[in-house]
Amino acid sequence: MDYKLLTFHRFGDERGSLVALEGEHNIPFDVKRVFYIFGTKDRSVVRGCHANLYSSFAMVMLKGSCNVLIDDGEHKEDVRLENPTQGLYIGKMLWKEMYNFSDNSVMAVLSDQHYNKDEYIRDYNEYLKIIKTAAAA
Ligand code: TYD
Repeated sequence: MDYKLLTFHRFGDERGSLVALEGEHNIPFDVKRVFYIFGTKDRSVVRGCHANLYSSFAMVMLKGSCNVLIDDGEHKEDVRLENPTQGLYIGKMLWKEMYNFSDNSVMAVLSDQHYNKDEYIRDYNEYLKIIKTAAAA
């Protein structure tokens, strides 16, 4: 499955900490888009629930924690993000769900593509159909 845990160097001194994210260095693609998820209402909220035809992502919890479920249609992996020095790279065409957000959490998401709503597959059965068709080709 095309995902990878990323560990970022923390520059720490008496003032506190700093992490630098750079495309094609510690983020494994050229960054074209950044968005962030905050103000999540409660623990029952599940975000994502889609796959992307073209976009890869790198997720970082700037504050708080959450879980990310990654699914390639055959296998599922559950990753817990709880530190701003950790990241999760997720390649295109993987189903993902973010859940169990802690109170006041902030998740930053970087992508190698600009936003295009037409590349989102939001129906899980359609996702399964598309990957099975691609595998048979
Ligand atoms: P949505 O895809 O539902 O978020 P999530 O992946 O967290 O479930 O996006 C919520 C809204 O934000 C939707 O109206 C589309 C818009 N949006 C953008 O305009 N640009 C973006 O890069 C993203 C990720 C979302």
